[in-house]
Amino acid sequence: MSTGSGKSGSGRSGSGRPGTTKTRTTQFSGRGLHNRVKTAKGRKTSSKMWLERQLNDPYVAEAKARGYRSRAAFKLLELDSMFGLLKKGARVVDLGAAPGGWTQVAVDAVGAGKGPKGGQVVAIDIQGMDPVQSATVILQDFMDPDAPDRIKDALTGPADLVLSDMAAPATGHRQTDHLRIMGLCEAAFDFACEVLAPGGGFVAKVLKGGTENELLAQMKRRFAMVKHAKPPASRADSAESYVVATGFRPDPKA
Ligand SMILES: C[S@@+](CC[C@H](N)C(=O)[O-])C[C@H]1O[C@@H](n2cnc3c(N)ncnc32)[C@H](O)[C@@H]1O
Repeated sequence: MSTGSGKSGSGRSGSGRPGTTKTRTTQFSGRGLHNRVKTAKGRKTSSKMWLERQLNDPYVAEAKARGYRSRAAFKLLELDSMFGLLKKGARVVDLGAAPGGWTQVAVDAVGAGKGPKGGQVVAIDIQGMDPVQSATVILQDFMDPDAPDRIKDALTGPADLVLSDMAAPATGHRQTDHLRIMGLCEAAFDFACEVLAPGGGFVAKVLKGGTENELLAQMKRRFAMVKHAKPPASRADSAESYVVATGFRPDPKA
């Protein structure tokens, strides 16, 4: 599979080595992290607090140690150990992929680029990200009318798993943020129904309160199992959680 095909641009890049992670374990210790940041001239308290949180976050430290581009990589690893989502040889679509932590995890887990028995990962983000070896990265807004077709063109067959970690920048206005993320989730779900193979899986980020009733009812018609999960790597003070659906039914009446 090509590397960084599509208009993969520069932009957000990570600190680590792409696609080189050897282990999928999520066990690690965060003990011994207690860094404090002095308030530098011109640094706002909010950015001091952000920096302090980053420096003391065991997931940030472990992501760096393992070569993941984001601490978010652990959310997918944890969801995978809860639900057994990532299988060798699977075809995976990663929506809202930048800077690429989930893409790295998926590439390693499915064995993308590892010959005929290896899987495939197609990632898309509205923001540029560095190429991830053995993944196809498309730089485009997923909500563009032709974006779904570009992903389908890149896929070598039906997908086994559609992941969406898409999140629009928070406005701070709770209802607006909720509506935006649900719009992305709904679009991701519609797309998943078009590309998934029977038995396939779907994961999407949602906000507190979970998936809206109507969407949840639709998901339950199309999947054998639908659950909400908040992996430990998802910050306790964050309103995000994930809806996880497995056992895709191409024909909802069957
Ligand atoms: C939380 S980040 C994803 C982190 C990623 N899973 C990782 O492991 O590195 C959310 C991403 O969704 C992307 N996004 C938001 N809206 C999008 C859209 N309409 N189309 C494509 N990507 C979008 C953002 O650009 C952002 O990079």
